[in-house]
Amino acid sequence: MLAEQLREHDHRYYILDDPQLSDAQYDRLRAELESLEAAHPELISPDSPTQRVGAPASTSFAPVTHHQPMQSLANCFSAQELADFIARIGKTLGRMPSLSAEPKYDGLAVSLVYRDGVLHCGATRGDGRVGEDVTNNLRTLSTVPLRLREAEPLPLVEVRGEVVMPRDGFVALNQRLAEAGLKTFVNPRNAAAGALRQLDSRITAQRPLQFFAYALGSAQGLTEQRPELRTHQQLMQLLADWGFCVSERLGACASIEACLDYYAQTLADRDALNFDIDGVVYKVDDLGLREELGEVARAPRWAIAHKFPAQEATTRLREVEFQVGRTGALTPVARLEPVFVGGVTVSNATLHNIDELRRKDLHLGDQVVVRRAGDVIPEVVRSLPEQRSATATAIELPTHCPVCGSAVERTEGEAVARCSGGFRCSAQRAESLKHFASRRAMDIDGLGDKLIEALVEHDWLKDPADIYRLDQSRLAQLPRMAEKSATNLIAAIERSKHTTLARLLYALGIREVGEVTAAQLADSFGALEPILAADAERLREVPDVGEIVAARILEFFADPRNRQLLEQLQTLGVSWPAPAKTRQDGVLRGKLFVITGTLEGMSRDQAKAKIIAAGGRVSSALSSKTDFLLAGEKAGSKLAKAEKLGVPVLSQAAFEQLLVSD
Ligand code: IVH
Repeated sequence: MLAEQLREHDHRYYILDDPQLSDAQYDRLRAELESLEAAHPELISPDSPTQRVGAPASTSFAPVTHHQPMQSLANCFSAQELADFIARIGKTLGRMPSLSAEPKYDGLAVSLVYRDGVLHCGATRGDGRVGEDVTNNLRTLSTVPLRLREAEPLPLVEVRGEVVMPRDGFVALNQRLAEAGLKTFVNPRNAAAGALRQLDSRITAQRPLQFFAYALGSAQGLTEQRPELRTHQQLMQLLADWGFCVSERLGACASIEACLDYYAQTLADRDALNFDIDGVVYKVDDLGLREELGEVARAPRWAIAHKFPAQEATTRLREVEFQVGRTGALTPVARLEPVFVGGVTVSNATLHNIDELRRKDLHLGDQVVVRRAGDVIPEVVRSLPEQRSATATAIELPTHCPVCGSAVERTEGEAVARCSGGFRCSAQRAESLKHFASRRAMDIDGLGDKLIEALVEHDWLKDPADIYRLDQSRLAQLPRMAEKSATNLIAAIERSKHTTLARLLYALGIREVGEVTAAQLADSFGALEPILAADAERLREVPDVGEIVAARILEFFADPRNRQLLEQLQTLGVSWPAPAKTRQDGVLRGKLFVITGTLEGMSRDQAKAKIIAAGGRVSSALSSKTDFLLAGEKAGSKLAKAEKLGVPVLSQAAFEQLLVSD
């Protein structure tokens, strides 16, 4: 039967993640069923795969009494509390039973009633006894089987599980809502709840929801039919066989250590999952033992949720301070009433930039939601304006730098506001110096952040050249600076004098010039002087250097203070010898190459190295300035363009010939 086939393909696609048909083949099959059903509406069965599309608006949800109440779970938050739980059940049973472990989904619990294997009703948890009938909405989920894959279905079974919204779907949904000017959801859980409680299930059908099964409620005749079913692990397998998604991370724990390992591993993987979880659930694996343990206060004694530290917490925004970075950028930092979140006490959180402050509608004194996920820097997610007091005040962008008092400038269209003080601003000075001395720049071991701040404070460091003017005996006078460390520092400074052009360029802290661009500049020019002499067009021949980067480089070297700095560094003994591979007198001296196509026995990078070694240069952009196009196999559009521009084309053989003559 067509409906049967389609159901099988749905299962392979949505549950097993292993489709047999192409999308087109599937669509054809589905269209066939739809036209058949259109011609014979009397043949449409409620479990037909076409019956997921959603039904028009209803006015409210009917109450549904669960056949077996939906229980809640006891929580624990520490290893000690977990040990108490295990000790309790151990005492009742006279031994430690094996526990099954699985993630605790942060979604909405639902109960699906199947009568003779066909989805009959789907309901929310409600108060545990009576929930709301959201069958029409649940039908739209591809992970909710409309019919169980079971030859001898039970007359009645309640399948319990959680509806979640995957994170990627949540992000996409919020983006769509924002674009349409609609209110966005705070988190995937709220979005899932909103979707499940839609009165128009056609809307639910458009929301990405997923159902995970983790328990049974009432299951008439199950023990008679399957006496061999004794454990939770077997039950999960049965649910998977019936066509449900179950956790891929089901664990078995025979000891408290094993539980804690499972917890730690799941916590570590938390951010990598595509849906939110807020802990793990341990359950006594043996279904018979569960009977013995029973329940207390509507929660089973045989299970416990071990919660993760909450990733979000509410606290008061005391103050917003503006930190000044290396390039003068002002970053607002929230000073918070200390709050325990994500496993640590947080009292500062980043706010990124001033636009973010506006977007999040923050006022001083507001109650705010703070989030710390994994090792990520804590951030302020949003304010709770409904709790705003009359004394809360708006946050203004300072007109003057909080450190040096220079005017704050903001370029139209840029999110970042900057202090205009440059090196006159001690914050910018300190940050620039930290960058200059850092490992990947001049690599001055022992010249750390705190020391730099102290030296800037003392006015001993006004610019990077001053580092090479530091005097050992004066250094040794600094608090917490022993004779030995002063000696070591001076030695490290001395060592840093022999550097490379790439490191120097990076250390200068030219805006937009990171490590990679610095290395490419060094590669392409071979020495500092030609960089100082280059115009924008020449700079743009360097890979990754576009209009903006070229402008920043020109701007930097046009500033007489920067040129002076370079002279002083040289006078103080800092040197950056030209890389040995650059040959000022090579055969290809001054020649500009573009490489295209596949070369034999050599990568493009290797060809580039050969060109540079012979004194030439390589660019990715072909123009009338190009001297040669080196064209390998399968050269594409560049070949035609070179011919049009009159740029000579070199074959690989001709190129190698040229190099031999060197
Ligand atoms: S088992 C009584 N397993 O957590 C046993 N519940 O805080 C039935 N939950 O109401 C629940 N993930 O909605 C179980 N893997 C999981 C779960 C889970 C999330 C929910 C469930 C329950 C709530 C209690």
